[in-house]
Amino acid sequence: MSDRYQGFVSSPIGKILAKNLGLPSPTRLERYADGAPLVTGTVVVGGAGRLAAGLPALLDSLGIASTTATADGERHKALVFDATGITDPSGLVALQQFFTPLMRSLETCPRVVVLGTTPESVTGSERVAQRALEGFTRSLGKEIGRGGTVQLVHVTEGADDAIASTLAFLLSPKSAYVSGQVVRIGAHGATTAGPVADWTRPLDGKVALVTGASRGIGEQIARVLHRDGATVVGVDVPQAASELQALMRELDGDHLVLDITARDAPQRIAHHLRTEHGGVDVVVHNAGITRDKKLANMAADRWESVIAVNLTAPEQITRVLLEEGVVHDNGRIIGVASIAGIAGNVGQTNYAASKAGVLGLVDSLADDLDNGITVNAVAPGFIITAMTAAVPFATREIGQRLNALSQGGLPVDVAETIAWYASPGSTAVNGNVVRVCGQMMLGA
Ligand SMILES: NC(=O)c1ccc[n+]([C@@H]2O[C@H](COP(=O)([O-])OP(=O)(O)OC[C@H]3O[C@@H](n4cnc5c(N)ncnc54)[C@H](O)[C@@H]3O)[C@@H](O)[C@H]2O)c1
Repeated sequence: MSDRYQGFVSSPIGKILAKNLGLPSPTRLERYADGAPLVTGTVVVGGAGRLAAGLPALLDSLGIASTTATADGERHKALVFDATGITDPSGLVALQQFFTPLMRSLETCPRVVVLGTTPESVTGSERVAQRALEGFTRSLGKEIGRGGTVQLVHVTEGADDAIASTLAFLLSPKSAYVSGQVVRIGAHGATTAGPVADWTRPLDGKVALVTGASRGIGEQIARVLHRDGATVVGVDVPQAASELQALMRELDGDHLVLDITARDAPQRIAHHLRTEHGGVDVVVHNAGITRDKKLANMAADRWESVIAVNLTAPEQITRVLLEEGVVHDNGRIIGVASIAGIAGNVGQTNYAASKAGVLGLVDSLADDLDNGITVNAVAPGFIITAMTAAVPFATREIGQRLNALSQGGLPVDVAETIAWYASPGSTAVNGNVVRVCGQMMLGA
């Protein structure tokens, strides 16, 4: 599924028209190619806090070149600023002093990451200043342009050594469609997190369950987790059995044909994972449906089916897998929510309720999980799939442009975000909801 508008405005005539009419002209986003370095170009490191001194060595361990000194005329791919040393609002000027001279030196699809301290963990003027970083990064995300992304990462004290997987994701093209986000890295599971032996195959030896895996976003999740070394167990409904089987054959994975809303689905999944794979490491609740109608016209079956597939089934499956000890230590539970669950949407009271409920599932579990098990969710914005192809043309066009990157995302963008959560290096990433929406203007 292609973005025809983007194709048109990158043509010679389209470029002229877009410029003269002031139309959005989306940059073709760089995406990660298997085996490529995480960053092609140099990262400039700045700021003065508890993280700055260790950043060059950390980036080096990821194969990323960095510098703290810049010269006129040099081009840079990314900027990382340690703002954990800012303890009152007057210190915020350090952001302007670091970023302003560098903003014109950035290459296409640049990355900016600001590292801060979790505001709730500090008090007084420090909390005020740390909170201010959010407005800074969200605004910079809207003005950086040329396919650039900007994120704020809150690092709780005690989690300073747990930031590598997050930097690897946010600095690389894997985060092509993630911008304006606040990621929280806490002390969760700091003691149980294992080192990542091979950053190109972090999921080697792991088993990943992906629901709704036969097509769309689920297919890409299966492909990316397989690329990262996992054995994927794909689940889908009987109507999608042949596509599911073909994909899982291609990925050397396993499949389970069932409707996740069936009464015995959680037990069947648990039994299959235990007997065939000895348990599971990564659970991705991707299967989802829409049955849009304004509430005034909403039939009960439309309401019930959406809640059942999108919310009740993920909750029940998660509870059974956890209660029966099928999820291994350092396991990952990952929900697929939606921007609609954050901003709301006309005709989607059922869908938005189900997706906001997925965020509730993350909140309800995050503090109680132990043994390094985490729960997080992605909230995709406009992702170009069969689901969004069914949206009327005008609504679809507007939906695709109303974000800082002026384009829809691809299923792989959601999949890469899930792969970051899934990494054994992400044990300190718990209770997060990251939007994969190109910094959509809705519900910002
Ligand atoms: N496409 C978007 O823009 C977008 C935006 C936000 C969120 N999402 C969410 O991402 C997820 C994937 O969306 P998509 O666009 O790839 O949709 P899709 O319709 O292309 O794929 C959904 C998959 O889930 C499977 N499925 C549906 N009901 C099932 C059931 N009861 N049991 C087992 N499998 C079932 C389907 O057969 C299908 O393979 C969904 O949860 C969706 O709500 C998508």
